[in-house]
Amino acid sequence: MNQTLAIIKPDAMEKGNMDNIKKDILDGGFSIVKEKTLMLTNEQACSFYDIHQEKPFFDELVEFMTSHECHVMVLEKENAVIEWRNLMGATNSKEAEPGTIRNKYGTDVSMNATHGSDSNENATKEINFFFND
Ligand code: RTP
Ligand code: MG
Repeated sequence: MNQTLAIIKPDAMEKGNMDNIKKDILDGGFSIVKEKTLMLTNEQACSFYDIHQEKPFFDELVEFMTSHECHVMVLEKENAVIEWRNLMGATNSKEAEPGTIRNKYGTDVSMNATHGSDSNENATKEINFFFND
């Protein structure tokens, strides 16, 4: 079994889609092994997305991620990292395949409903970032 970190982002939380997304996750064969709802601080958002610090969209991304509560989860499944990214769909919700979470619940390339780790190495780092117990 592998694990990945998933975040239901502020846009989806604000629209009341947390339970719909959690249902899609469970229907997709994942177990939710840890979860919590929290408001990210500016410092946490900058640190979590520090890989994007030089990108033109960084300030917008941090502002978005701190605009409302997030729901953070550790998902477990065989090949969890890839499987979760497949279920989320493309980064840009406008390009995400029908049936994917970003297609159903996101808006565009910025407000795209969910986050997923992009490698096993980053999954471990991101899980420790939020659940360091
Ligand atoms: P994530 O890290 O959130 O799972 O998304 P991702 O791997 O599919 O995409 P990534 O390139 O890591 O981008 C991180 C998040 O930054 C926002 N973004 N905005 N305005 C823009 O051009 C733009 N590009 C990316 C999105 O919220 C994206 O998920
Ligand atoms: Mg990413």
